Amino acid sequence: MKKMIALWLPALLLLNLSGCKKDLVTSIESPSGEIKIEVFTLADGQAAYAVQYQGKMLVDTSGLAFEFRDDPPLINGLKITETTTRKFSETWEMPWGEQRFVDSHFNELKLAFAEKEGLKRKFDLVFRVYDDGLGFRFEFPEQENMGEVFITEERTEFNLTGDHKVWWTPGDWDISEHLYSTTRFSEIDALSKRNHPNLAQTHIPVNAVNTPVTMKTDDGVYLSFHEAALINYSSMTLAIDPEKLSMTTNLVGSWRDYKVEQKTPFNTPWRMIQIADRAGDLIESKLILNLNEPSKMEDTSWLKPLKYVGIWWEMHLDISTWAMAGGRHGATTDNALRYIDFAADNGIDALLIEGWNTGWEDWIGTANREGIYDFVTPYPDYDIEAVVNYGRARGVDIIMHHETSAAVTTYEQQLDTAYALIEHLGINAVKTGYVGTIIPEGEYHHNQFMVNHYQKVIETAARHKVAVNSHESAMASGLRRTWPNKFAMENIRGQEFNAWASDGGNPPEHLTIVPFTRMLAGPIDYTPGIFNIKLGPTKPDNQVNTTLAHQLALYVVLYSPIQMAADLPENYEGHPAFQFIKDVGVDWEQTRVLDGEIGEFVTIARQERETGNWFLGSVTNEDKRNITVRTDFLEPGFTYLARIYADAPDAHWFDNPTDYKIEEMEVTSQSSLNLLLAPGGGVAISFHKKN
Ligand code: NOJ
Ligand code: CA
Repeated sequence: MKKMIALWLPALLLLNLSGCKKDLVTSIESPSGEIKIEVFTLADGQAAYAVQYQGKMLVDTSGLAFEFRDDPPLINGLKITETTTRKFSETWEMPWGEQRFVDSHFNELKLAFAEKEGLKRKFDLVFRVYDDGLGFRFEFPEQENMGEVFITEERTEFNLTGDHKVWWTPGDWDISEHLYSTTRFSEIDALSKRNHPNLAQTHIPVNAVNTPVTMKTDDGVYLSFHEAALINYSSMTLAIDPEKLSMTTNLVGSWRDYKVEQKTPFNTPWRMIQIADRAGDLIESKLILNLNEPSKMEDTSWLKPLKYVGIWWEMHLDISTWAMAGGRHGATTDNALRYIDFAADNGIDALLIEGWNTGWEDWIGTANREGIYDFVTPYPDYDIEAVVNYGRARGVDIIMHHETSAAVTTYEQQLDTAYALIEHLGINAVKTGYVGTIIPEGEYHHNQFMVNHYQKVIETAARHKVAVNSHESAMASGLRRTWPNKFAMENIRGQEFNAWASDGGNPPEHLTIVPFTRMLAGPIDYTPGIFNIKLGPTKPDNQVNTTLAHQLALYVVLYSPIQMAADLPENYEGHPAFQFIKDVGVDWEQTRVLDGEIGEFVTIARQERETGNWFLGSVTNEDKRNITVRTDFLEPGFTYLARIYADAPDAHWFDNPTDYKIEEMEVTSQSSLNLLLAPGGGVAISFHKKN
């Protein structure tokens, strides 16, 4: 199903003679009329814009500029030579996702800017305004005085209109595995996050934040800033000016004396602002996907969302090792067969096996990690063909693992052989990873060089019919629409930190912030489902800082088409709560964010595509709370069996994390459920249609 209306409207050009600051004003509104953008040139001829929401200024006059290594900056002396507007409306179908159909309605304003003197360079500035926010980007056409360019900085400003409450992580060029801080905008202090003891690499050059960065104004408006369609460009961090309440793009750099190398014609990524009255609307928004191009993959029928177990947590718990030397190797043939049996017996689709290939003896802490992996040579105690064949016989797919240890040149040299092996084995998912500082030295995980590398991997994988789940890569920017084999990404301080971080692990509030921040970028491989919360006996000093019911709720709260049951099989065997993990969907017809407040709690309901069954997850921070859920999302006229996995009355994330109760009852679309969430707790519910 695809409806599309594209209308070209006559150019709208209004002269504003009253303000001396602005000499030419052009504006465009969202379809609902609630968001209004004004674009103009300032007195010195700089391009600028402002955003109003419901008649109030939300982003005040903000300038736009570029600086180049070899050319004069593109800032002043500009004029608008042409403006065009367009209305667009379509509904498109996701091959997999949080929902099947996505509406995309926007009004577009395209302004042609040109320098009046000198090089007479030109660019188009394109704004797309939707009801849930906006995106804008620069489109540089082919032109006489602008060919190859070396951009030293893009200076796109976002001037805020208040000292908002902000949920932020530092503007790290190398990693997204920081906890969120909650402060007023003027109190953002990213530099205090340098030198974190548990990060394999980190580089925070200035007081900036990574995106998505989410804010709440004192008027109760929610805002989130990020970028869409990050292709052949550097990731954006936003430098903070605490006095001016202003953010300016600070692109991720490298050893080079420029940050982006491009050649006209080219477009920048979309600079995106989500705007909502309700926190949950940020999550329901599909703005980031609407700003990306439609799928370039013709056949997506082979892409199957899945649940998986892994020879993985046992290494993080130090029960076994990735390396074979030492005699505690996790990825042995026998162990793999044991996990396959467990998966097959419990309807789990796939098994990830880490540490299967030679090289892990040297993977970390070695300065020269180039060449340690070849991605095709298994350790002698791991018979890859036998494992894959056994899995096939038992209906369990194997997920390939490529830890590159950030030795990117080695990985690129091996790509064709590595993916040929995957295809030969009939595997169609891979987990990639980039632990450590990037080799070659002076590159960063989020810069243009690496953005291009990740893209190369995605396109190679697509050619071999492989879906990618990538760890330690640049933040998702909605490219999964264009490349639906881009399944999930980590880009977060994941569950693994609970196993070994020396700072106490992820606090209970973590996953009440993540849905409103990181999750706005796309699917997350958080790896939920730990039942042995206290991590005994191998990790007496660490623990998961949630209740068990909270872990169950994460299967609904955190969206991913590749969702892990992360704990050890022996911790699931015979455990009644495991039924929820077996039952829960991974591909959704629709999603409703029923309620939530950032950093406090969130309640999400999702309907499974194939079955029409519904699942609900709610998680809270350190605070105990009662929530009331009206089940009006259920189909009217039907009775559903609700199975509720709730915290026991005296459950607590630290004192009593594994105490829960399972209750069953019949409900309809008219029902209402009163639910108790323990401190650090949660609730998970499956709703199966009865008649
Ligand atoms: C870090 C990843 O996040 C983790 O999931 C993986 O087990 C290790 N690297 C080893 O590749
Ligand atoms: Ca990681």
